[in-house]
Amino acid sequence: MSEIEKGEFEHFMLKEIHEQPEAIRKTLAGRIKDGRVDFPDLEFDNVFKNTGKIIIAACGTSYHAGMVGRLVIEKLARIPVEIDLASEFRYREVLWNPNDLVIVISQSGETSDTLAALREARHNGIKVLAITNVPGSTIAQEAERVIYTHAGPEIAIASTKAYSAQLLIMYLLALYLASLRDSYNPVELEGLANELLGVDAMVESVLQEQQHIKELAEKYHKVQSIFFLGRGLDYPVAMEGALKLKETSYVHAEAYATGELLHGPLALIEQGVPVLTLISQDKLVDKSMSNIKEIKARGAVVLAICKENLQEHCQECDEKILLPRINPMLAPIVAVVPLQIFAYYMALFRGNDVDKPRNLVKSVMGD
Ligand code: F6R
Repeated sequence: MSEIEKGEFEHFMLKEIHEQPEAIRKTLAGRIKDGRVDFPDLEFDNVFKNTGKIIIAACGTSYHAGMVGRLVIEKLARIPVEIDLASEFRYREVLWNPNDLVIVISQSGETSDTLAALREARHNGIKVLAITNVPGSTIAQEAERVIYTHAGPEIAIASTKAYSAQLLIMYLLALYLASLRDSYNPVELEGLANELLGVDAMVESVLQEQQHIKELAEKYHKVQSIFFLGRGLDYPVAMEGALKLKETSYVHAEAYATGELLHGPLALIEQGVPVLTLISQDKLVDKSMSNIKEIKARGAVVLAICKENLQEHCQECDEKILLPRINPMLAPIVAVVPLQIFAYYMALFRGNDVDKPRNLVKSVMGD
């Protein structure tokens, strides 16, 4: 049966990577009207209007979606956002205020640490909004409000289309909160909402790079470790790329905020060490490239995932994968796609069971 469901694709992971434009369209459907974000089922206005602080809790890939969420909510909605690994949440003293809002993000809606964070918040009388892909899941049932990602069932253990859908919800939520609270120029908010409606086509165009990325994976599949770098919104993308690579290909991958590389990890850079860098943030490109020059000077092989309009800055990089011109704020949605394809082919060339990596399960329910 599952062979049939895979259709033309060899693995669910590749199929789900290709389903992302559709997942994005479904997640957006009915949620943007006349340039404004609408969550008809939310009816949570008063809580959102008065929220003093948001705390996001999630694990793994969902945590990386939350990291993007933090940056865009703070920028657009001007609400302070803290983010916690759900597995650490219970072990710190959260200084609650009654008008705090907790957002938990979970594809499966069953991750025990994320559920525990939800329960901890509710126990303290704090409202919880869940973002999940699975209707009727425990997290969906126990949260006050739920926003569903409509990514469809995700079979491969490595999350791809569910992550894209989570990212879309982060942007929608940031836009929704910003217009509710009048915290950002409404014309710009409308522009961003309209740009969101075009990101599915941009993801389609990145999928066209598959053959090129496959060739890169073939060339580099024997490496022992890779560093992933990103600054600003590129940093969570680098973290997600490193996670995807390690879980599917079993290659040691570490993500660093680009500037942080100089504070220790630089000692590990020597002749031939591969470093993959994200270059999608127009205003940060000069700063990032000056760090890249330092690592190039020590012999690193640099692979750049670079926005088309920034490619002249990446001339010194050894390999380039180009991204379409996109508003830098929305770039994480397209920048993650080449990393998913890279992880997929790295796993394939290394002979791994791509859809079921060793030691991993789809929902981490024990704790
Ligand atoms: C990585 C991956 C995991 C999950 C994490 C949380 O590809 O899938 O890191 O993101 O286990 O799972 P959910 O989102 O179901 O709570």
